[in-house]
Amino acid sequence: MDKQLGNLYIVGVGPGSSAYLTMQAKQIIEQSDVIAGYELSLNAVRESLSNKKVLVQTVENQNEMLDIVAREREIGKDCSILRVGDPCYSSGIKELLDRFKDAQVIPGISSIQVAAAKLGLVLEEVTVLTFHTLRGDMKITKSMLLNSVRDGRITIVLVVADFMPQDVANFLISGGIDPKLPVTIFENLSLENERIFHGGLSGILKESFTYLSVMVIGV
Ligand SMILES: C[S@@+](CC[C@H](N)C(=O)[O-])C[C@H]1O[C@@H](n2cnc3c(N)ncnc32)[C@H](O)[C@@H]1O
Repeated sequence: MDKQLGNLYIVGVGPGSSAYLTMQAKQIIEQSDVIAGYELSLNAVRESLSNKKVLVQTVENQNEMLDIVAREREIGKDCSILRVGDPCYSSGIKELLDRFKDAQVIPGISSIQVAAAKLGLVLEEVTVLTFHTLRGDMKITKSMLLNSVRDGRITIVLVVADFMPQDVANFLISGGIDPKLPVTIFENLSLENERIFHGGLSGILKESFTYLSVMVIGV
């Protein structure tokens, strides 16, 4: 008799520290036989990974990893695909659900929520933009960014390797935004090497940041 198809979960693990891992996410990961995810998401749950098949995803091998997940499910293994923060924001959830239509999505605490909480922001009054989306046209997101900042709205930006905080600052300044406009950047949120930069837009140009940064423009 055929083995029953294993369960598939897409699990948000928070921004990196286990302090932001929900009890539900932890439980599902502990009950899963196979865990797939990028290094950062795997690090967030390191202590729950012993005795499991761990698939380390990279941009290059992601389809191959998902093929392995599909095969493991076919032999009855429960699998969890991890995503940093919340899986429904800027994490390619559409592509995952297109492939695994019966997946259960487990929410996580987004880096956006952690940054907003640190600054006490009223999230419904804030524009939130990501430059990670594979489907989005960067030009459209850039124009939304400029309009939001021109309108005086606090704007949260998830940066990406080819549009880093320095590029955002240059883009806004060349779009006529005051170089002294305050900005807060949270790098490596919740991790041991967390760093918080606060200064004017032009001050960013003298600094360097990794892509693991949430930029909050206007505070
Ligand atoms: C692919 S997106 C994933 C977003 C994620 N789903 C979320 O809800 O936070 C990756 C971007 O999220 C932000 N990010 C995620 N975790 C972070 C952290 N610990 N510190 C700073 N930024 C983080 C960065 O802007 C990073 O480039």
